[in-house]
Amino acid sequence: MKILITGSNGQLGNELADILSTGKGEIGAIDPAYQGAAVTSIDVAELDITNGKAVTEYVKSENFDLIINCAAMTNVDACETNFETALRVNALGARNLAVAANETASKFVHISTDYIFGGDADIPYAEWDTPAPATVYGKSKLLGERYVSEACSRAFIFRTSWLYGYVGNNFVKTIIGLAQKNEHIKVVYDQVGNPTHANDLAYHILKVALTDVYGFYHCTGSGICSWHEFATEIVRLTGLSCIVDPCTTDEFPRPAPRPAYSAMDNLMLRSTVGDEMRDWKDALKHFMDKFYSDAANAS
Ligand SMILES: NC(=O)c1ccc[n+]([C@@H]2O[C@H](COP(=O)([O-])OP(=O)(O)OC[C@H]3O[C@@H](n4cnc5c(N)ncnc54)[C@H](OP(=O)(O)O)[C@@H]3O)[C@@H](O)[C@H]2O)c1
Repeated sequence: MKILITGSNGQLGNELADILSTGKGEIGAIDPAYQGAAVTSIDVAELDITNGKAVTEYVKSENFDLIINCAAMTNVDACETNFETALRVNALGARNLAVAANETASKFVHISTDYIFGGDADIPYAEWDTPAPATVYGKSKLLGERYVSEACSRAFIFRTSWLYGYVGNNFVKTIIGLAQKNEHIKVVYDQVGNPTHANDLAYHILKVALTDVYGFYHCTGSGICSWHEFATEIVRLTGLSCIVDPCTTDEFPRPAPRPAYSAMDNLMLRSTVGDEMRDWKDALKHFMDKFYSDAANAS
């Protein structure tokens, strides 16, 4: 099996490459069908997905069985002012890959986000709920979803949220850094969602990609919390004495408005291959243990 991972330097790309090389995620072993797979991991320096001609030529010359697009412009605030780049990467770049995947009869996995929803629900969003993005990032990702569905007949679109992985920057690492330097930090309590370990998402992507049940999949960690609860648990696991004070979104304004409610229901996963996503606290504990043991081994 020939597999291409784009945006491979990012959080999710790294977890996918790791699972494919070791044959197992933190949840468990992946299907033996992936044994001996030839995995090509590339990022913008090797292939800029906004360059349609380069994407077509490269994909046609390699003829992959599976293409997993982890490339994206993920800086939500920067998207507000750089909306042309957001559109090019998150919508047109995704389309370029989807067209090339379709022309080469490859399966295509694309990753999207909870930000495509309006954030005003009071029960978790299911795959059939109507998108209503409030930010440029969310709008560009929604357009990307639509282009991918239109361009590729073998596409899986995974929506995830509050993602953290071992490589790259994320909320968990930010809070660890802040807790090391401060006695008190403030974190918003009036935004809730699902923290998602990138290793668990990668495991489920590889599980679903072996099927032909194309379409939309919500894939987030199990359980809902606020950013304040998430930060409090991170600090508790560090053993540091920093206190996490709750604050409101109004006290912490950002260029891109954040959804108040962005929890998602993994309905399609449950109804197809099964939802093995770990409880967010269990996945976080595993992450923190490994993060600290890797740091100790490196020093
Ligand atoms: N992070 C989250 O909390 C979150 C939540 C929901 C959904 N998602 C989605 O999940 C997916 C993976 O997210 P992630 O956190 O792993 O992202 P990430 O860590 O930001 O990685 C994205 C990678 O894509 C690369 N990239 C940017 N523009 C590119 C281009 N034109 N061509 C090729 N590569 C390009 C980036 O390079 P540079 O760093 O050099 O720009 C980076 O290495 C994305 O689709 C994202 O929208 C993420």
